[in-house]
Order: sequence, then structure tokens, then C-alpha cells
Amino acid sequence: MERQSEAAGGEVPGKLEEFGMERAPVVAGIGMCLPPRSVDNHEMSRELDTTHEWILSRTGIARRRRADAGTSTGDLAVGAAAGALASSGDAGADALVVATTTPDRRCPATGPEVAARLGLGEIPAFDVAAVCTGFLYGLTVASALIRSRTYHRVLVVGAETYSRIVDPLDRGTAVIFGDGAGAVLVRGGDPDEPGALLGTHLGSDGSGADLIAIAAGGARTPHPDPESGRELPREERYFSMRGRQVYGQAVHRMTACARVVLDRAGWAPGSLGAFVGHQANQRILDAVGDKLHIPAERRFGNIRDVGNTAAASIPLALADTAAAGRVRPGARTLLTAFGGGLTWGAATLTWPAAAPVACPPAVRPSTAAPTGRTVE
Ligand code: UT7
Repeated sequence: MERQSEAAGGEVPGKLEEFGMERAPVVAGIGMCLPPRSVDNHEMSRELDTTHEWILSRTGIARRRRADAGTSTGDLAVGAAAGALASSGDAGADALVVATTTPDRRCPATGPEVAARLGLGEIPAFDVAAVCTGFLYGLTVASALIRSRTYHRVLVVGAETYSRIVDPLDRGTAVIFGDGAGAVLVRGGDPDEPGALLGTHLGSDGSGADLIAIAAGGARTPHPDPESGRELPREERYFSMRGRQVYGQAVHRMTACARVVLDRAGWAPGSLGAFVGHQANQRILDAVGDKLHIPAERRFGNIRDVGNTAAASIPLALADTAAAGRVRPGARTLLTAFGGGLTWGAATLTWPAAAPVACPPAVRPSTAAPTGRTVE
């Protein structure tokens, strides 16, 4: 999986003159990576005051994946990105964006280490933090980089290990979120090619920041408290979501921004070949699909088997749907998402021709133990 880059050694990739006349961003590769351990609702209901029936009927989720203690977000991201590269048949990328809520460390970003582990050389690599809308934020950045001819091939990875931030005792969130990663390689191409991205639309409303949040551990509320050393209560240390309030916002925002991109593309909802929404909750997806009048047989997703994987959810759903061969390449496609921030977004593209490639989580190269040497 670790690959050697042609661009390694200081060569600057993606010179403008190499780009020719290509302009449209095209999804040319799709990758996915799931940790092998699946936890079903029956197992959850042995640990929590919940039932398989409640979870399935209220969310559409039957099982979700859990990374083991030795597997990080970066390990999943490397697997998914390697899959996207293999799927595209391309040897490398000129820039890499990792969308995640669960970076491997608070500092630095996960992106540069993922790029290095993929052997992509000294390319620009960074994280985007837009919670469940992160993949669409990353896709928009990639699209702009390509349209502006700044870079030609951009890897966009959505990767998460929510099992690290969700309170295992909170039945309102523990049953919903899962771990995994999905990725696409976006390159400059022809607007008529399958996979061509027509447009995206993003939004945010920070006045709703408390609705989906981890209260402690940041600069505002460091944890543990630096003065007293006191442990903060678990509801502040762990991820929390005011589910009922978020639910209404999710339906409203996903529907509204989907309408914006459909209008811009001049596409009637009935002409769509595929609708892939953020896999937040099956009832939310049904409500958005109904409001937009998208025929049920054109709605695709995998929430039943992987749960809500936040920033990884849309690329994972794309990968699973493509693997099943359920959509004709070139078919009109709508993506939409909503998440913490609050953030939301939507995109129109045509269904990619690439066959998705699944890779296992990457095994980390052994890291040297700290030497304990004092800096002089
Ligand atoms: O991905 C980012 C964006 N996220 C979303 O869009 C998620 C949006 N929200 C949701 O998907 C839903 O609100 C949830 C699935 C989180 C919750 O479903 P709900 O139908 O909105 O339930 P609720 O929060 O209003 O809770 C109803 C009841 C409560 O009990 P009481 O107060 O009525 O006695 C909860 O304590 O359901 C209870 N409950 C559960 N019961 C059994 C909450 N979680 C569970 C559970 N099992 N796992």
C-alpha cells in the first residue's frame, strides 16, 4: 500500500502548463475502507438500554463497523485513498484533502501523514473540519483547485473513527455512528465524461454550534481543566447531539441546498438517476427524497449496514452503490449532506464510470518510541 512517488524529492507536482485544456472536475476513482468488525443491534442492546427494533425503526441502522484499538482514522483514510487511486488507474495525486471529525491527533492535521504513507511526495495535504458535511466541503475545494488549474488530480477522503468520540453509554449516539472511510480521486477532464461534477453549494450557521458538539478538549474548554486538573463530566468530554432538534434542521437544509444545485444544473428531480444523501438516518433520507419527489428506486445508500459514518458517509455510499452496479455511468446524480457546525451542502454530478476498489485498513509503519532526550 505504501507507494513511491514520482514527485518525491522536491519536484513540484501539477504545473499549470501540464493541464492542457481540461477544466471540468471529474470523479475518476472511488475507494473504500471499512474495519472488519461489525457490531449489530442485538450486540448493542446487550450493552445499552435499547432494542434492535427501536434502532432499526427509528434510524434504519442494523449494524455498524468498529475500528479496533490499534486502527486510527488515518489508517482507514490510507486504505480508502489507495483504493481510489487503484480505481482511477492513476499513479498519484497533486493534492489531498482529508475530511474528518476524528483526526489522528489534535495537531497536526491527518492529511499530510496520509499523503506521506501513500508515497505521494511533498504534495499539499490538509484536513477539512465540517463534521458530516466534510466530504462535500472537501469535494468543493477539490473542484475549485481543478477549475482554477491550480492542481490537476486531487484526492478527497472522508474518514472517521466515531467510536473514539462517542460515549459508549449514550444510547442516543452510540447506536448511530460507525467507523469507516471513503475516497474519490477527482481530476481535470471533459464535462461530458461520466463522473463530471457540475456544481456544489455549501452553507453554515454557527449559531447552532451547540447542537452537535464535543464541549471540552478545545481552546475554549481545555480538558482536563488546566487550573484544577479536574476531570470534566462525560457529557462534556464526549460527542453529543441534540437529535430531535438536529433532525428537523437536517431535513430542511438538505432539501433546500439540493434544490439550489438542481436549479443551477437545470435538472428536474424526476430526471435523476441517483440520489445519495448523507447517511444520517433513513427517516431523514426518506423525508428529503419525498420532499424533492425523487422516485424511491433512484435513492441509494448503505446506512443499514454501516450506520452514520459522518464525513465518510457519502463516499462510502457511492462506493457501495457503484460496487453493486446499480447506476448507469453518466446518470444524473445528486448528493446532499448536513452536519455539525451547523454545516450543509449539495452537489450535482454524473455517475462515475470507475469501478470502486475496497482496501483493508493500512498497517502503520512502526513508530519509534520517544527517546526521552532533552532538547538542548
Ligand atoms: O449526522 C449528522 C446529523 N445527524 C442527524 O441528522 C441525526 C438527526 N437525529 C436523529 O437521527 C434522531 O433524532 C435520533 C435517531 C438521534 C433519535 O430519534 P428520535 O426519534 O428523534 O428520538 P428522540 O431523541 O426524540 O427520543 C425519543 C425517545 C426518548 O425517550 P423519552 O424521553 O421519550 O422517554 C429517548 O430517550 O427515544 C429514546 N431513545 C432511545 N430509546 C431506545 C433515544 N435513543 C434510544 C435508543 N433506544 N437507542
